[in-house]
Amino acid sequence: MNKVSALYPGSFDPPTNGHLDLIERGAKIFEELVVGILRNSEKIPMFSLAERFEMLKTLTAHLENVRIETFHGLMVEYAKSIEATCVLRGIRAVSDYEYELQMALMNRKLEPTLETVFMMPADKYSYVSSRLVREVAQAGGPVKGLVPEVVEQKLREKLEPAYKFHDEMQQASSGNSGGKEITTKKRKKKS
Ligand code: PNS
Repeated sequence: MNKVSALYPGSFDPPTNGHLDLIERGAKIFEELVVGILRNSEKIPMFSLAERFEMLKTLTAHLENVRIETFHGLMVEYAKSIEATCVLRGIRAVSDYEYELQMALMNRKLEPTLETVFMMPADKYSYVSSRLVREVAQAGGPVKGLVPEVVEQKLREKLEPAYKFHDEMQQASSGNSGGKEITTKKRKKKS
């Protein structure tokens, strides 16, 4: 069988356990796997390119055949430039399929020699997405088990006020505000 070098492109804002699961699966079947983080100037990401790069580097340090890179422009052109003959994408549920199929077929139109391979992450991550992780974290909610610990830590650092507020509200609603007065409309009870 031919030895295949693959590109796993994405935004990874932030990397989730689902991404990591897919990288580990991909690393087992491809000779080399390049994780390509898209440099997208249109979207304002939660994590800078450098932060995402560092997180992914740390998370994949145990995988010898995995490399982290960044790219901009057309993915197929980048794949060609690194001599990747395959693109890896994850499909979590049927809802992903439509978009992924469209993208795979467009990429095939742009570069017929590049094959897209879909893999499923572990079913326990089938509902995990970067977008939902950001949403939960922005409201100070728990993301344990959804993202690796380094990412969880980074989210806590970045969103400290949201987490602080959430923790205070939790304490207050369980009757333990630690002596602090929290003044929000929610807490004002009519006597
Ligand atoms: O993790 P994401 O955001 O779902 O990844 C989407 C990504 C980065 C794979 C896709 O937007 C992409 O390849 N962008 C690069 C520009 C490009 O080639 N567009 C044509 C895709 S059909």
